Amino acid sequence: MRRGQILALVGIGTLAGGIAAAVALLVPWFPVVASKERARIDFVFWFVVVICIAIFAIVVAVLLYSVWRFRAAPDDDTDGPPIHGHTGLEIVWTLIPTVLVTSIGIVSAIVLAQNDALGKNVLHVNVTAQQFAWSFSYPEAKNLTSGTLRLPVDRSVLLTLHSKDVIHSFWVPEFGQKQDTVPGLTTTLHITPNRIGTYPVICTELCGLGHAVMRTVAIVMSQGSFDKWLKSQTKATTAPSPSVSGAAVFKENGCSSCHTLAAAGATGKVGPDLDKLRAYAGQAGKPLEAFIHESIVDPNAYIQPGFPKNVMPPFANLPPAQLDALVQYLIQSSKHA
Ligand code: CUA
Repeated sequence: MRRGQILALVGIGTLAGGIAAAVALLVPWFPVVASKERARIDFVFWFVVVICIAIFAIVVAVLLYSVWRFRAAPDDDTDGPPIHGHTGLEIVWTLIPTVLVTSIGIVSAIVLAQNDALGKNVLHVNVTAQQFAWSFSYPEAKNLTSGTLRLPVDRSVLLTLHSKDVIHSFWVPEFGQKQDTVPGLTTTLHITPNRIGTYPVICTELCGLGHAVMRTVAIVMSQGSFDKWLKSQTKATTAPSPSVSGAAVFKENGCSSCHTLAAAGATGKVGPDLDKLRAYAGQAGKPLEAFIHESIVDPNAYIQPGFPKNVMPPFANLPPAQLDALVQYLIQSSKHA
């Protein structure tokens, strides 16, 4: 090869690689990094990106140079010269990808193993997914249940995920991992949050009409504030109050992600507006209390016109005390509407 040819190849390759690198580096593709696992995953990502840009530059250089240098004249209808392959070249272009892909595999395996390795003093959190809400309970705090995921910073957290109905998927973009929740199976996800802040929890598996609203937040706080929160919450739930709070049942079962209810500050639009329960009961021709009770345990018994069937899961397994509290709460709330 002549010096001019090599220069042309290197020039095109540098230009193509430079443009690809600029697109990769100058556009803020990712949310902030908020977990140790995410930082490792990002390392694998950039490791692969660097390899891809290098290969891309070489391919573009050879391609463009060949199209330009070896193009046929417009009136040239002759066959191309017969080529018998090049053993040396074939060995090289097999060996290089083999080494690169194997190294990506090794780096990925190391990161997966590191990400799965639990730290000391693991915090266990049970995650329950259902159409269309998340709830989180803390076995170390007498199964305290919360609609938001609160986590202490710099502590190993093991999420144990369950689904009550269909397949959902847990995702906090800043934590960098997704995990499906599958009915009948228990799945786990290990996270070590390392940045204080509030991040979205998103369902990333199409699970029904309310899929897009199946969101909550993960709040990463200092260990001190987390302990304080746990203490205040456990006190609130273990306080001597024989009656169950209907408002709490409403909140814990994620009713607000689908329904509007002024008393609960809920603004969901997937299901009927619960501030209008009195009018709905009238249209259904049923007494209010019986109507609300039936609509919770057997939602398809009466479908309010304008809303789809088979969207709300039956809450037939609610403990009777909770069900009664919820029915009374809805009666009370709709009175003031
Ligand atoms: Cu749950 Cu999508």
